[in-house]
Amino acid sequence: MNDSQSTEPPVPAPAAPPLGSSPSIEGLMPEAATEDELVRDRGTRVLVVDDEASLRRTLARLLMTRGFEVLTAEDGESALALLANGKVDVMLLDVVMPLMTGMQVLQLVRQRQPDVEIIMMTGHADVATAVRAVKNGAYDFLTKPFPSTEAVLIAVAKAAERKRLIDKTRLLEQQLENREQFGEMVGSSSVMRQVYRLALGVAPTSTSVLILGESGTGKELVARAVHQHSQRMARSFVTVNCSAIPVELVESELFGHVRGAFTGAMGTRAGLFETADKGTLFLDEIADLPPAAQVKLLRALQSGEIKPVGSDETKVVDVRVVAATNVDLKKRVDDGLFREDLYYRLNVIAIHVPPLRKRKDDIPLLAYHFMNKYAKRMGREIRRISPEALRLLREQPWQGNVRELENAIEHAVVLARGDAILPADLPFGRGAQSVPTFSDRPPLAPASPFVLPAELGDLPFAEAKKRAVLAFEKSYIETMLERTGGNISEAARQSGLDRSNFRRVIKKNTGRKKEP
Ligand SMILES: Nc1ncnc2c1ncn2[C@@H]1O[C@H](COP(=O)(O)OP(=O)(O)OP(=O)(O)O)[C@@H](O)[C@H]1O
Ligand SMILES: [Mg+2]
Repeated sequence: MNDSQSTEPPVPAPAAPPLGSSPSIEGLMPEAATEDELVRDRGTRVLVVDDEASLRRTLARLLMTRGFEVLTAEDGESALALLANGKVDVMLLDVVMPLMTGMQVLQLVRQRQPDVEIIMMTGHADVATAVRAVKNGAYDFLTKPFPSTEAVLIAVAKAAERKRLIDKTRLLEQQLENREQFGEMVGSSSVMRQVYRLALGVAPTSTSVLILGESGTGKELVARAVHQHSQRMARSFVTVNCSAIPVELVESELFGHVRGAFTGAMGTRAGLFETADKGTLFLDEIADLPPAAQVKLLRALQSGEIKPVGSDETKVVDVRVVAATNVDLKKRVDDGLFREDLYYRLNVIAIHVPPLRKRKDDIPLLAYHFMNKYAKRMGREIRRISPEALRLLREQPWQGNVRELENAIEHAVVLARGDAILPADLPFGRGAQSVPTFSDRPPLAPASPFVLPAELGDLPFAEAKKRAVLAFEKSYIETMLERTGGNISEAARQSGLDRSNFRRVIKKNTGRKKEP
């Protein structure tokens, strides 16, 4: 391994288990790293700063067996020089060093490179310093002598994971600047960017989030995005619609029940809080949560403990709650219908998802997004939305917000006959629905047998077919023109032909008036 650059000769790659001379970790064998751990931590660079050479060496070897890249420095000054020269993710920093103390180094690194995660190494008796270090921005501390090699590895791995998460968030934030999409959400308006920013900011914490907005604005997508950008993303995202569960079952659904807790409780059953342990619980339509369940939810949020219905025992769960509502929850509180304490608990961070009419600039993007989605699903080659149709889309009041827009586009994709969505394909477009279109009709029943006019039966096939087609075209065009009061453009539109093709057919037929 030549990853180890330092102010002293590089640490040789470990051939044997890293049991250096340091008395503090002597005799303790680390367990072999799993394949996953090796892959994950490879590329994470750790800087070990300690004035004691044997400890530096031992730590370096230990960390390298786990795939970390390691640098070492014997004092604060060389540590700062190394930091200035390249990327360091995690720093193990001794407190007691000659010249610059660990606390001084900590302060300087915080100012110059705030992204580096620092773990302080303090003497056993000096917990007060350790606490002070954490207050000043250290991520964690280890007391010397180390309790075990595992303790060291766990602390470094946790710091490395946090660093990775922060790097990822940074990257996302940069990308957000000119972003048209966030999670499953589409939209680049400034109001939506603000939503993305808030969601991204709150995601890595475990704080409760309250998502407010009219029906169909995308609250559930925001909740999912919060989960997907959190450390809980690998765990479950559990959705509960509080208004869809019968009142008498809400508590048992959320918190579980024990056998015999109520009539019909045949066995013990885990609640959704337990299902969502270490993950995210999305409480949709929170305003509809019955009062008794509100009390229990508050307790769960405050203590992290739940009590299944009929049980005397509490269980500890680690659940991040995201709640959503489309009603004015504050008004519910004022009307005495929702507990005020719970409201404030949930409302630590509120994300307001704006109605669609407040982000009209997103309409084309959303419309194209849904057009592609449904065209693909239905196997249709629709590639455009006409400028007139887009204008019409922008003008709608969209009471049902994005959901209504999505439905409108789905409808249009079904109806569109060319490669473009036209105004009349939209549910509110002029002429829409007043005339049944072909695609509106149920598929033709198995064709009724074609009755061959007697005179065609006397002709050769090619000639008979030609005349049958001409007869069909003539009758078809007459019907269409009759239906539209002679309006050629409208007749063409309803036929799914463009105007010039339609005219050509008219001309062909009127020019051959005498054909059968
Ligand atoms: N920004 C968006 N980009 C893409 N699709 C969206 C967006 N916002 C909403 N949708 C889609 O619109 C529909 C409604 O969204 P969602 O269910 O999240 O709304 P909601 O605010 O939870 O509504 P309700 O209050 O009625 O439950 C969903 O199909 C969702 O995928
Ligand atoms: Mg919803």
